[in-house]
Formats: sequence, structure tokens, C-alpha cells
Amino acid sequence: MFGKKKPVPQIDKEQLALIKYAEKRIKQKKRVYIHFVVFLIGAVFLILANTVLGIGKDLKIAGLDWFVIAIVLWLALFIYHFVTVFITHSFMGKDWEDQQREALVAKQQQRIDKLKQEYLKEEREIAKSQAYNETIENITSTQKKKSELTIIVAAGENNAIGKDNDLIWHLSDDLKRFKSLTNGHHIIMGRKTFESFPKPLPNRTHIVITRQETYKAPDGVIVVNNMDDALDAARNDKQPFIIGGGEIYKQAMTLADKIEITRVHHSFENADTFFPDIDTSIWKETQREFHEKDDKHKYSFTFLTYEKV
Ligand SMILES: NC(=O)c1ccc[n+]([C@@H]2O[C@H](COP(=O)([O-])OP(=O)(O)OC[C@H]3O[C@@H](n4cnc5c(N)ncnc54)[C@H](OP(=O)(O)O)[C@@H]3O)[C@@H](O)[C@H]2O)c1
Repeated sequence: MFGKKKPVPQIDKEQLALIKYAEKRIKQKKRVYIHFVVFLIGAVFLILANTVLGIGKDLKIAGLDWFVIAIVLWLALFIYHFVTVFITHSFMGKDWEDQQREALVAKQQQRIDKLKQEYLKEEREIAKSQAYNETIENITSTQKKKSELTIIVAAGENNAIGKDNDLIWHLSDDLKRFKSLTNGHHIIMGRKTFESFPKPLPNRTHIVITRQETYKAPDGVIVVNNMDDALDAARNDKQPFIIGGGEIYKQAMTLADKIEITRVHHSFENADTFFPDIDTSIWKETQREFHEKDDKHKYSFTFLTYEKV
């Protein structure tokens, strides 16, 4: 802020020097011209002074009239002036001008090269960061596009999930949670689980897996003959659910991204269908919510969420 001088670029100094030199040359040449005119007028004056006015009429030097000697000396002076300006200075000046011009051009070229390099470096950095951003965007959009296949199950402490093609318990809050989580989504199930329902559940797209090629199901229920086709039928759903039973859970464990399990705190020894063990080196618990037993719930239970590591 205080007295901080702006740096004067080198190029301006050199250009200034060239201009000053050109001005100096013009002045020198003008002086020669004026000298010549004054010499002519002076010579005429000297001749007239001697011949017309009779000044120094008898004065002779080495046998010559004084004004002749004066004019010759003046002429010699003028010739010296002329030679100095037009020959000596001219040669020296041209070299100097050329050198200056070359130095100037070289410096400018250096500066252009430096700017070019800086520009290219900057461009490379921008390109790198653009490529980086695009990669991140692609990864993010791929992640966004990917659906989250979720297993939903209620299992006892011993992994029991059913008996005689039915559930072993009735826990209303667990059913409510099942309804709210699966509402509006595709639900994938084995043929036996499907047949354990009195009728299809509202507001969900049912996908039933069976090996029977002529299996008949109510309108709106999608019937497929393998797990791949079931997943394909649910491909537009961001979160399709695997809802059982035992056979289908087993096959879906390696495919699923998430498990929503209701752990019922009791061991059901009479069960005939079981949920597979959850390998905690693959699955990480991310949420839990305990529910105490009460009038409506014969067993206490915990809602647990697992996500693949
Ligand atoms: N606690 C819970 O959260 C829960 C949830 C759901 C079910 N459950 C219980 O689980 C029990 C039913 O389970 P489950 O294991 O017996 O039967 P399931 O898994 O529901 O269905 C098995 C049937 O699915 C079909 N299937 C299985 N794998 C297949 C494949 N790869 N390709 C084509 N079709 C295939 C076969 O149908 P086909 O025989 O027609 O070929 C097979 O018989 C019931 O007790 C039910 O109440 C419990």
C-alpha cells in the first residue's frame, strides 16, 4: 500500500531506449542541416563583407584572402560534422539498433515460450481434474443406479423361520414393519411361501420362483423359473426384497446387499425351516432396535439391519 513501486517490465525500458536513440539521431541530422544552411549564409556574408564592405581588404594569409581561409576552415568543420553524424554514428548506430532489436525479439520469444508452457501445464491440470470429476460422477451414478437387494426375515435365536409352511409366531409390530418396508416394491419368494399367504399382499409386485413350467398364479403375479429371472423382473426397482422362505433365503445370501432381520428372542425347537447363519466377516450390523414383549407380543425381539462389508 505505502510506496510499493510497480515493477517496470524490461521490454518497456528497451523500447524506450530505441525511441530515445531515434530522437537523438533526428536531432543530430537536423543540426547538420542547420549547420549547412548557416555555413552557406555565413560564407556569402564573409564574401560580401570583404568584397562589398571592404572589411580586411588587405589582409592575406599565405597569399590568400582571409575570408577564403575562413570559409575553407568552416567547410572543413562542416565536413567533420557531416562525417561524424552520417558515417561514424550511422554505422555504429545501425549495429546497436540491430543488436537491441535481436535482444528484444529473443526476450519476447522466451517470454512467449514460458507462457506457452504455463498454459499447457494449466490445461493438463484442468484436463486431469475434469477426468477425475467425470470418473467420480460415473462411479456415483453407477452406485445410484445399482439397486439394493434386501432380504427381509424374522428368525428365532436358533434361526427358526417356520413350521408346516407357516410362521411359528404372530408379532403385529413386526408385520407392520414388513408392510411399511416392502410397500410399493417387488417381493421375491419361493413357491411355498407364496402358497402360505391367503391372498397376494396389496401394493406390492409378487415374483414367485418355481421349477414348475406351467405354474398358475393370480393375475398380476409374476412367475419365474429361477433366481436370475426373478432379479431381472425386479431390475427397475431400487430396493427389491427377498421375502423367503428357507430355500430362497439360502440362494439369496450371496446376492443380497442388505438384511433386515427381526431377531425373535426365543429358540423354536419344533421349527422345520431355518434361516442361514449370518457370517459377520461379510455382514456388518448397522442398526438395531429392541422391542420388549407385551400383551400384543408374546416374545421380545430386535430389529437388526446388516449391510455387506
Ligand atoms: N420367518 C419368516 O420371515 C419367513 C418368511 C418367509 C417364509 N417363511 C416360512 O418358510 C417356510 C417356507 O420356506 P421353504 O424353504 O420351505 O420354501 P420356499 O423357499 O418358500 O419355496 C421353495 C420352492 O421354491 C421353488 N424354488 C426354490 N429354489 C428354486 C430355484 N432355484 N429355481 C426354481 N424354483 C425354485 C421351488 O418351487 P417348486 O417346488 O414349485 O419347484 C421350491 O419348492 C414356511 O414355513 C414359511 O412360513 C418364514
